Formats: sequence, C-alpha cells, structure tokens
Amino acid sequence: MKKEYIDLPPMLAARGEIILPGSKSISNRVLLLAALSEGKTEIRDLLHSDDTERMLDALKILGVEIESVGDNAYLVKGCGGDFPVKEAKLFLGNAGTAFRPLTAALAFMNGHYELSGVPRMHERPIGDLVDALRQGGARISYLGEEGYPPLEISPAEISGRNEISVRGNVSSQFLTGLLMALPLLKKKIELKVEGELISKPYIEITLEIMKRFGVDIERRGWESFFIGDDCRYESPGLMHVEGDASSASYFLAAGAIGKGPVRVYGVGKDSIQGDVKFSEALRMMGAKISMGENWMEASSTGFLEAIDIDCNAIPDAAMTLAVAALFAKGKTILRNIASWKVKETDRIAAMAKELRKFGAIVEEGDDFIAITPPSSHFALHDSIDTYDDHRMAMCFSLSAFGTHVRINDPECVAKTFPDYFERFSKIAFPVPVISIDGPSASGKGTVASLVAKHLGFHYLDSGALYRITALAAIQAGLSLEDEKAASMLAQGLDIRFENGEIRLNGEIVTEAIRSEVCSNGASKVAALPAVRAALLELQRQFRKTPGLVADGRDMGSTVFPDSILKVFLTASAEERAKRRYKQLIEKGVSVNMDTLLQDIISRDQRDSGRSVAPLQKNPDAELLDTTGMGIMDAVSQVEEWYSAKIDQPTPV
Ligand code: DC
Repeated sequence: MKKEYIDLPPMLAARGEIILPGSKSISNRVLLLAALSEGKTEIRDLLHSDDTERMLDALKILGVEIESVGDNAYLVKGCGGDFPVKEAKLFLGNAGTAFRPLTAALAFMNGHYELSGVPRMHERPIGDLVDALRQGGARISYLGEEGYPPLEISPAEISGRNEISVRGNVSSQFLTGLLMALPLLKKKIELKVEGELISKPYIEITLEIMKRFGVDIERRGWESFFIGDDCRYESPGLMHVEGDASSASYFLAAGAIGKGPVRVYGVGKDSIQGDVKFSEALRMMGAKISMGENWMEASSTGFLEAIDIDCNAIPDAAMTLAVAALFAKGKTILRNIASWKVKETDRIAAMAKELRKFGAIVEEGDDFIAITPPSSHFALHDSIDTYDDHRMAMCFSLSAFGTHVRINDPECVAKTFPDYFERFSKIAFPVPVISIDGPSASGKGTVASLVAKHLGFHYLDSGALYRITALAAIQAGLSLEDEKAASMLAQGLDIRFENGEIRLNGEIVTEAIRSEVCSNGASKVAALPAVRAALLELQRQFRKTPGLVADGRDMGSTVFPDSILKVFLTASAEERAKRRYKQLIEKGVSVNMDTLLQDIISRDQRDSGRSVAPLQKNPDAELLDTTGMGIMDAVSQVEEWYSAKIDQPTPV
C-alpha cells in the first residue's frame, strides 16, 4: 500500500557516510547510447529508479537486447544506430530524461511510434525540440495540445539542410536529445543554439558521454555544435555510472546544517556532473567542504549565512539551497532558475508555498526565488506537499533539522532515489528523547525532571496536559465524558510552561491541576481517544535541541516511539499511597490512607484498562521498580542507562 506520509522527528545532528545511487542523467544517456552503438556494453552502477525503468522498458520494446548481469549491472547489445522494431507505442511516465532523447532518436528511425506519459508529462513543453527535428526532416505530430506530448512519429523525409537551430532557454534536454540523435543521420550538420543556453553542465555531461561512445563533437562556445558525417557510436565495452550529484546535495546540505561531517561516495572533484558545483554554494554559506577523487564531505560550525547566487549551472541542486536557506542568517536569493517552472511541477511556486508553511518570507518571480527564514525556532503546523516531485520530498527532509515535519507522498522519491528516507535516517540523528512512563505517584515526575536538569534537556510533564484539559473542561462546565467537546477544547489550549509555573490562558494553574478533582478528571479525559489525538502534536513540539525527558503513560509507545531510552518506572500501590500520603500531610491536607490507596488502585485500573494507549510496560522499556529505593538512586540508574545508549553507535 502507498504510504500517505512520513513523519521525521526534529534532528539534532548529521554525520556519517553515504554511497550515492547512480546519476539519473548519466544512467539514461548511457542506456540510450549503449543501445544505439555497435557492440555490447556492460553498464555498472546504473541507477534503479522510475526514470531508468521507463528507459529500459522503452529500449526493450524497441527490440534492444538488455540482460541483467548483477546488482545494478546490465549488458546492452547495441543495435548499431537502428532499432529493430519499427512500430511501437511507448509510455514514458514523467521521465524527461527518457522522453526528450527518445523523441529525437526515434524521429530518424524510419518507423511509426507513439510516445506518451503521465498527465504532468503532457504539460511539459516539447515544441522547441519538435521544431528543431522538423528542420532535419522529421515528421512528428501532436496527439494532444500543440507543443506538448503525446506525440506521433512517422518516417522522416531527410532534408538537404545542413543547419538546425534550437532554443536554449527552455530545457537543455532538447539540445541533449538533438546532440545524441543527429549523428545517426550521418551528414554534416551545424546545430545552433538560439538565446542563452540554460543548464550548460548537463550539455557537458552529454558531450562527455558521447565521447566515451566514440563521437566527439566540436563546438564554438555554447552557440554552435558541429556534427560530422562519419559519426558512429561504438561501445566502450564497460561503463561505470557516477553517483548522482543532485542526490549528493541533500547529504552535503545535511552535513552543513547539522554540523557534519557527512561524506558522500560516488562523486568527487573529477566528476562530469555540474551539480558538484553545489558544494561551492554551501561553502559560500559557511560550510567546510573537502573532496577527493571519488568523495565529497561537508561540515560546519552550525551557523550558515544567506547567499545571493546565480543557479544556472546547478538547477536541480539549487532546490536544496532553497531549503538550506531556512537555516541561514539573512535573505537567500537564488537567481536564473526559470527552468524550475517546466520540471516535474512548477518548482518555483511549489517551493514558495511549502517554505511559507514554516513562516519563511518568500518572494518569487519568473526566474528567481528569495527566502528569508523565520526569525526564531520554527515549527510546522501543517504537512509538506510534494507535487509528485521527488526533489521536493528530498529537499524538505532537511527542514527536520529545525522541527518535526510530516512529508506527504514520500514514495515519489522513487523517481531517482527509492530508498532516500532510509539512507537519510542513517546520517541524521534525531533530538534524543528519554521517555519515562509509569503509574500515578510512582515518582516518575521527580525523577524525570531531575534527569532533564542534569543533562540540560527540556522536560515534558505530559500528565499536566491531561490535567489542564480536565481543569479547562471543568471550568467550561463540560461533561468529562463529552469526547468531542473535550477534544476541541484540548486542541485550542493556550498552555505555557514558564519558570517552573504552568499557565492556562495566562493564569497560573500549577497548584490547581494537582487537586484530587483534577487528578480524577485527567484520568477520565485521558481515556478519550480524540483528546489523546488532539494532544499528540502539542507534546511532540516539546522535542527540541539538545534533548527531552518526557514522563507519562505512552511516551515510549505512542508519542516518541523512537526514544533513545525508554523506562517504565513503577512502585507497589502501597508504596505509592504512602508517598502521596506523606506529601499531602506535609502540605497540611488531611487524608485517609485507605481512601488514597483505593484511589490509586482504581486510577491504575482505568489507565491500564482503557482501549487507547493503555498504561503498560513496553517490551523495549527498562523496568525500574522504585519500591524501597531513594529518588537519587533512581535518577542515577536512568542516567547510567542513557550513558550506555549514547556510547553505542546510535541506530536511528
Ligand atoms: O502523570 P499524572 O498523574 O499527572 O497524569 C494525570 C492523568 O493523565 C493520569 O490519569 C494518566 C493520564 N495520562 C495519560 O493518560 N497519558 C500520559 N502520557 C500522561 C498522563
């Protein structure tokens, strides 16, 4: 079943190493050229993703023999520039890196083909490529809207023209498609670029890979490319696909935001991918970058500065900078990003909308975006939409270095990086939580707050939230069984914990919520599922750097299931009644021991017998029975367990 969303806890730090998946751009270019060349090519480290699947499927349908020869390795038997199948319908999903070059190659294949994709693919312009191909004699018609896929291709009537021009300012993939396909015509052609060419580094990738397949194209600047009449694609035998430099950007940015060091393997200083320049942008923001032949590493002091930068050369990785801007002091301006509009979604609009959800001030134009981060610690009271755009999902994982985030449709990362979130969790370390659950009057509140104080962590007394809800409900004259009303009330509570005092709507209620009426009321409202759901997000917001100690009943099981340490702290009912008795007598309250014991027993029953989040020891929690044990001994035990956990390499 498709996952609707993924919740990422707030992250404290990033460190570790990642082996990158293969580059999408290189994978699809290599596949196509291997298919078009003479001889067999073994391709290693090919990316496994939706986009490469589309290309593989299409090539197989076109009659190319492709054999899997190991993990991410394929043997492609080239067809010497002529696909055997002359009539086919190809579905190419949302894979621009398959659609554009295949259109160009099939235009001169002397066959009948239909090319289509998902609805978004049909909104992505292709008119400039079709116009250029028509100059070379291609016969292509639009099956839907003029200028957009789906397309129908018929055998070309090769023209005598030796000059073809293409616009360079919409998508560099048009030029890439032409550069790879025109050598098939075996005639001299000058390919001219009109207007400024965007995303030049992608053209460099194209030229470099063509060279490895034996076709060396001369060029004059970025305006003219000269294709000879004696070009022939020849298999280089073995091709390694580099790691994906755009994918590297998320991990390097994590290293910069979360101090690092984070090292990526698969790209390095000799990479042919332009997106490696992304590291220079991170360096400008204040990160420390180092690199070797096959690796790059980022770290920082944790303080980043805003930058104003032209992103023409790094269109994809620039999206990562937009989210990194949430952590940089000042206004970050990313310029020359018009191509964002025609990608998987209108990325300028999408990015602006989602960044605003954190309270950032965002200005957007046709070719720029400017981001001023929210001034203080930010929170997300919404979830992040991803627009079926893998890069939106991956970029926004970085916002977790500031707050708890929910990312919708996380599986859209399959386009280029199917196990992205798993890998991210290997280098991103959440803000640690120690959960201390247990029954009433077990002393967990005292223990938890002392542990928090010793470690310099924040402290959450979750029971207080149920007590406050009960108090507010009693004050509003609500029945404590009225689930709907109580949960509405819980959602809108104005609660503040300040200097050891608890305030409800501005009024100090520290003492009031400890009354027996509130204790009993809290136990009743706590049994209502809608109230528990309403308080969930509020509780998670207490998880802040450098860490949290939370006490309650379901901290380890429900609210912070990824707690680094879970403790179930208890004592016998008699011992707890005795402690409570002593407390109340000291306060001058007269009580009856038997009544207290009965109250504790029946509250225990209600807390453990309810259907939602019942009080129980989790199998992964440490048991701490404090019957006959002093407070400080209990505190020391918890701290000892915690030290043992952080001494181990932390699993996330
Ligand atoms: O810990 P406490 O006695 O202050 O809790 C008051 C009530 O709230 C108690 O009946 C149990 C309930 N509670 C809960 O159900 N879940 C929590 N996480 C904390 C308290």
